[in-house]
Amino acid sequence: MLKDHYKLIEFVDLGDERGNLVVIEGEGRDIPFDIKRVFYIYGSDSTVVRGQHANKETEFLLVNVSGTSKVRIDDGKDSLIIELNKPRMGLYISSMLWKDMYDFSEDSVLLVLASKHYDSTEYIRDYDTYIKMLEKRDIADE
Ligand code: TYD
Repeated sequence: MLKDHYKLIEFVDLGDERGNLVVIEGEGRDIPFDIKRVFYIYGSDSTVVRGQHANKETEFLLVNVSGTSKVRIDDGKDSLIIELNKPRMGLYISSMLWKDMYDFSEDSVLLVLASKHYDSTEYIRDYDTYIKMLEKRDIADE
């Protein structure tokens, strides 16, 4: 079920009169995985669609630390669109979930924390291949 593959997490703001401070700790403290990689996306605009892939192994946590963007997640059966619009709001995505990121505001900075180092071979970039892999996995589980 799609709901088992993502989670919206609201992080605590440790800010004070000096400003906001949001901390994200891995290994089950704030997010379920050990953080191995960090990247961020900015300079994309409302015409761009990024992502368009699933990962065999990697789990992700997405936060729009500035601006807004939308994420469409799809498990091959159901899909859902989530707007990331708060620096304290994180979207956890499990492995083997198809994702598209789009509708970036001009000031969008999308921070991504990942559970694995980059490995191009664990990216599934073709939707039909993704569906076939899910079907194979379902048959193996039966
Ligand atoms: P891409 O997967 O297209 O980014 P997005 O999912 O945000 O649309 O990645 C663009 C390029 O950058 C591609 O050649 C792979 C490379 N890349 C890395 O080398 N390391 C990384 O951690 C990421 C996310 C991408």
